[in-house]
Amino acid sequence: MPKNKLQKFAEFEMFPNTRTHPMGMKGHWNTHFFTTDKPITLELACGRGEYSLAMGRMFPDRHFIGIDKKGARLWVGAKTAFEQGLENVGFVRTHIEFVDTYFKRDEVSEIWLPFPDPQPGASKANKRLSSPRFLKGYERILQTNGKVHLKTDSDLLYEYTLETLEDYGCKLLKNMPDLYSQSVNDPLLTVQTTYEKRHLAKDRVIKYVCWQFE
Ligand SMILES: C[S@@+](CC[C@H](N)C(=O)[O-])C[C@H]1O[C@@H](n2cnc3c(N)ncnc32)[C@H](O)[C@@H]1O
Repeated sequence: MPKNKLQKFAEFEMFPNTRTHPMGMKGHWNTHFFTTDKPITLELACGRGEYSLAMGRMFPDRHFIGIDKKGARLWVGAKTAFEQGLENVGFVRTHIEFVDTYFKRDEVSEIWLPFPDPQPGASKANKRLSSPRFLKGYERILQTNGKVHLKTDSDLLYEYTLETLEDYGCKLLKNMPDLYSQSVNDPLLTVQTTYEKRHLAKDRVIKYVCWQFE
């Protein structure tokens, strides 16, 4: 019988590679959660955590933490990492609004934002994960020259992100308005999440943007 959401929530809490609203962890992820000192990459709005899992397999010398507010989705990533012995991958259930209360300054080396909700409508602009209030949090926890990567199918979110990055004074490192219109050599860019597969099935154009804070 398939597990329901409540069963998944309960199981999520029991996995050794998970935390929920992780108070007291700021500055301690490499000692109290992982057991070695390695660069930490965050996958924000990770859903089922496909990026964290793929990067965890590709880069055993780095740590990956997927963050989302939905426990039933995170359960898929946490279960997969646990069953596959991916000890460098963990999952956190919380709100991304508070990311800089959970990680200290310079504790994070890279951030991925795969297919965050576009939040259409001007009144929802400050909920977009590339809005200035979120950028402030990312800037605080990222090491100097740490990169942020965004993939989206949404024209609105893509255009909004480019404008916001310019206003904020970020350094744009890559801007690919149609990722798959050219051959993509970087295997990281071709990891496909649940939402990306859905968008591709509907022939939607995938955009990719990468930036740094200056
Ligand atoms: C469109 S889904 C994308 C999921 C996944 N990245 C993928 O590509 O399949 C957006 C995800 O963002 C999460 N999310 C949205 N706002 C959030 C917030 N403020 N804090 C934590 N998670 C959030 C949702 O729970 C959802 O899983």
